[in-house]
Amino acid sequence: MSTCNETAAAMTMPGKGILAADESISTMSTRLEQVGVVPTAESRRDYRELLVTTADLAAGVSGVILCEETLGQVFSDGRPFPEAIRTLGILPGIKVDTGAKPCPGLPGETITEGLDGLPARLAGYAEAGAVFAKWRAVFTITEERPSWGAIAANSSALARYAAACQEADLVPIVEPEVLMSGEHSLERCAEVTASVHAAVRQQLRAMNVGLAGIVLKPNMVIEGEDHPVRATPEQVAEATVAVLRAWPAELAGVAFLSGGQEPERATANLAAMQSHNTPWPLTFSFGRALVSPALAAWHGDEGLVEAGQRALASHVAANANALRGRERLQPA
Ligand code: G3H
Repeated sequence: MSTCNETAAAMTMPGKGILAADESISTMSTRLEQVGVVPTAESRRDYRELLVTTADLAAGVSGVILCEETLGQVFSDGRPFPEAIRTLGILPGIKVDTGAKPCPGLPGETITEGLDGLPARLAGYAEAGAVFAKWRAVFTITEERPSWGAIAANSSALARYAAACQEADLVPIVEPEVLMSGEHSLERCAEVTASVHAAVRQQLRAMNVGLAGIVLKPNMVIEGEDHPVRATPEQVAEATVAVLRAWPAELAGVAFLSGGQEPERATANLAAMQSHNTPWPLTFSFGRALVSPALAAWHGDEGLVEAGQRALASHVAANANALRGRERLQPA
């Protein structure tokens, strides 16, 4: 088994998910300001250290996605983040895209950037201790969007990124996110997500990316946040798994993003997925659904570090528990 295949299997091992703590400096700073914390490199570091030192985090978390700033920072005891996280029994990863930027020629749509110089950056991240990477492409649903151009350009970039990662022995998390913003129905989300995934698969094949050495990080198939009817967990699970069935059995695993769902809804949807027999594990790689309660509980108060950690621990436990339904299934 190649290094990537082994790492991807470890990232999606039964009963565990991935913690996404890779907000960019500007997103993290905004979130800190929202809870009354002055955003500095040190406050961002303190917050990320609070998250990853949560007692027994490794019981429900296989890997943590960091941003470049955190990858280069040290714990308060002086150990570099990647080394300290490894010691906790958790795999360190790194977000390597440089963000979704306005796409020339496609008003209102974005292209995720970061390919220039990527192989050299990946070598540096691997040297610093990262064993996997993440790249997020973003698609917005309207009547006319996403356009074919946005789907093609972003799928191509995802595949070029994934191929570069595998050459550097880093597992690529391939994240094509169809956003929840809008009034669209669950059926429209299914249609768009299926088209995006078809293009991503085609581009991954074109770039000779081994599916056993990637982790797919998709959105759940869900109605837009302004749609009048809210789908049940069973409906979300059925529609999501129906779209995912186009992925070959070789795929290492699927780790969902939470996409702005309330934490409890994301967990209920994840639990409902587990009653579907699939050839790949269906786990979580949540950001906000795991960390928002912890950030709110801590809000920069040194005396509330443990309260923040308890909030994270309870959401990790709830999601790890949601994965248990799978144990009752026969292999697909
Ligand atoms: O790229 C997005 C994150 O990795 C997942 O964040 O669960 O808050 O959507 P989210």
